[in-house]
Amino acid sequence: MYRNEFTETISRLAFYGLGTADIDLSSASPKLVMGGSFPKCVKKGLFLTLTLSFRQLFEFRVRYCMSDDILVGTRALTVDFSCGMTFLRALDNVDITIQRGEFVSLVGVSGSGKTTLLNAIGGLIVPTSGSIIFNSICFDSMNEEERTIFRRNHIGFIFQNYNLIPSLNIFQNICFSAQLSQKPITAQQVEKIARQLGIEDKLTQMPAELSGGQQQRAAIARAMLARPSLLLADEPTGSLDSVNGRSIMQLLRTAVSENNMSVLMATHNEEFALQTDRIIHIEDGKIIAEESKK
Ligand SMILES: Nc1ncnc2c1ncn2[C@@H]1O[C@H](COP(=O)(O)OP(=O)(O)OP(=O)(O)O)[C@@H](O)[C@H]1O
Ligand SMILES: [Mg+2]
Repeated sequence: MYRNEFTETISRLAFYGLGTADIDLSSASPKLVMGGSFPKCVKKGLFLTLTLSFRQLFEFRVRYCMSDDILVGTRALTVDFSCGMTFLRALDNVDITIQRGEFVSLVGVSGSGKTTLLNAIGGLIVPTSGSIIFNSICFDSMNEEERTIFRRNHIGFIFQNYNLIPSLNIFQNICFSAQLSQKPITAQQVEKIARQLGIEDKLTQMPAELSGGQQQRAAIARAMLARPSLLLADEPTGSLDSVNGRSIMQLLRTAVSENNMSVLMATHNEEFALQTDRIIHIEDGKIIAEESKK
């Protein structure tokens, strides 16, 4: 069983087109480190499979080496939800990659798996099988606490249902994610993004006092102010009229080009999908097509 797991690790590395890698045998819990050649790594890897103790196998942390351009990749990502005696396959062997500074849209009919894919990539749900590799680090190799810290520092969410904190006012909500990840922000920055989103007069109000579209814009401000490497946006323009929707798209585009942020945006809006660098089509939990503009 453990041998198979290890061999699977090596084949995942091969899948991501590793150029160079070697295994550092000198430490108590061996790590895969840069340097050396990939064929040598495979050979040593198989040897290690035989010699790793039970404890070492569990302590083993792999630093996956993907192309530097790729921020996040999934491999054979599958999510099943149990429905009584049976299960529903919401994601079925999904393989996608997102480059650094790339704006990608995810389109598909209602129930096709968009939110599930965003939640799985963001570490909010644990996949049934498959892997997510982020910044060369595999989520599988992290425990729950490590995953939470990683998510806080690197990933921003704009949720389909906004998820503002009801007991905080809009100003405090906007600051929340940046404060959690200990990124310094000023009141001027909060006011600036609120102005860009047209909610500058709502900062002292509570979420329940705002319309759906205004809450959505507050959720967008909160996610963007934390400057994550990856922004997962679940229908960020869903509750907005076309004018506000276009200004959100403009804001996202600026974040991508100026801060090298990567954005994966689920959307039903064809006009906005066409403005992104790449469109991924999902149907019944499977990726059925990709259209690239670059
Ligand atoms: N927690 C859950 N338990 C059971 N089934 C779920 C759960 N979450 C989602 N599903 C099911 O998984 C499938 C994919 O749902 P998902 O929310 O990812 O779709 P979606 O593409 O985001 O749809 P929409 O465009 O309506 O937001 C659906 O059939 C849904 O009913
Ligand atoms: Mg959804």
